Amino acid sequence: MPKKTNPQINYKTITGRDFAALLHPRPAILVTCCDTSGVSNILTIAWHTPLSYDPPLVGISVGVTRYSHSLISQVGEFVINIVDVSMIDALKTCGQYTGELDDKASLANLSLIPAKKVRPPLIAGANGYLECLVEQEVDAGDHTFFIAKVLLAQAAETAFSNMWVSPQGNIPLCLQRDQYGIYQDIGHKD
Ligand SMILES: Cc1cc2nc3c(=O)[nH]c(=O)nc-3n(C[C@H](O)[C@H](O)[C@H](O)COP(=O)(O)O)c2cc1C
Repeated sequence: MPKKTNPQINYKTITGRDFAALLHPRPAILVTCCDTSGVSNILTIAWHTPLSYDPPLVGISVGVTRYSHSLISQVGEFVINIVDVSMIDALKTCGQYTGELDDKASLANLSLIPAKKVRPPLIAGANGYLECLVEQEVDAGDHTFFIAKVLLAQAAETAFSNMWVSPQGNIPLCLQRDQYGIYQDIGHKD
């Protein structure tokens, strides 16, 4: 039998910021935060990850120049709002405007409701929420990686069993930059 060989692949060097796009698509989420007097802000985040089960830890990477960066650093709390495609315009708005100048909840037509464990609010109608308390700020170049403990995790019963249920889950994926897509289950099981 002749040995099976892989077809020749030609690789090109990826320069500048584009290395990060190799790690996309990623779920785009809305993070709510607030200032010390309770005024809230929202930003879109694609660079986030679970980190530990016990204790339950997550991490978000926030650009040091973002207005939200100063709020999260000062207050030490944020909420991860997992949204579905119905909020795609909000993802774009909250990822484009700054809370330093604009009230993004009204710009994006989002209603806010109180969280149970932290000061930043929840976005009404989201599929799920992680209420988070910052434990560590790690310097990550032009971003800060905020490592936070999940104080409360909630998900809509119709959208989540022990995993997201389509079509209710319908989590928007940030393909890269401002391009979006949707997860498709290809039914492959071990
Ligand atoms: C799809 C998408 C994903 C984004 N992901 C991140 C991210 O992971 N980290 C970050 O710091 N900014 C990210 N941004 C940019 C911020 O959301 C954007 O700069 C925002 O306007 C900051 O708002 P602020 O100034 O009110 O904090 C993303 C934007 C979009 C549209």
